[in-house]
Amino acid sequence: MMRKPFVCGNWKLNHNLAETRSILGEMKNSLAGVQQVEYAIAPVATVLAAACEQVKGSALHIAAQNVFYEKKGAFTGEWSVAHLTELGCDYAIVGHSERRALFNESDEIVARKVKACMEGDLIPIACFGENLQQRESDLVKSVVTAQVKSILGVVDSEAAERLILAYEPIWAIGTGKTATAEQAQEVHMLVRALITDQFGQSVAEKIRIIYGGSVNADNAATLMAQKDIDGLLVGGASLSTASFCSIVKSASVLRA
Ligand code: PGA
Repeated sequence: MMRKPFVCGNWKLNHNLAETRSILGEMKNSLAGVQQVEYAIAPVATVLAAACEQVKGSALHIAAQNVFYEKKGAFTGEWSVAHLTELGCDYAIVGHSERRALFNESDEIVARKVKACMEGDLIPIACFGENLQQRESDLVKSVVTAQVKSILGVVDSEAAERLILAYEPIWAIGTGKTATAEQAQEVHMLVRALITDQFGQSVAEKIRIIYGGSVNADNAATLMAQKDIDGLLVGGASLSTASFCSIVKSASVLRA
């Protein structure tokens, strides 16, 4: 079974409407014809409708940076899975460490969001990863296992292969400190084993596990050369057309 690599640019709180339209237009053109890789950009929520319009008919997809788990009701400031799919969004980042830390998203909330996406035709890019203190205290395995099990616990085995998991060691995000390819591979291999325990080998071979944390045009290929790294979640280096497109191109290799 071959896994198609997936690269997602996470723009966080950057780029206004005009910038979004113009950069997405450039990316769409620059990536036309690039095969064997799926790619998406996650812009600010207020420009999602325009972003979806801008990329229509191209291979560039749009992801949301967040989504709420309820379908409707008294939840001021939130939006549902259906609000995103009606715009044309295909993915949502769920449980990014900034949301866990700054907006108090617990494993339980993250799991509910993953479940809502799976039920509603939106592909969740479910994030997990340890902080520096946990790494230094040798807690990577236990922290990652708890976070991943909580996500897998709400996923139906038939739909499981749609899930995308994103390992983002918090100490590597926005710091310029990338995990070495070997450090990342070690965790990805652990996660693939957790998926195998829960769903069996054939599902585990289909689920994409992507890496994020100071990915750039220079380190993307080395990370992608690892057996269990199936794509990249890119923050800072996704803000400009040249570096994002270069990263997508270096990820365009099928995973055995
Ligand atoms: P970074 O961010 O690439 O700027 O480190 C990654 C992320 O937060 O998804």
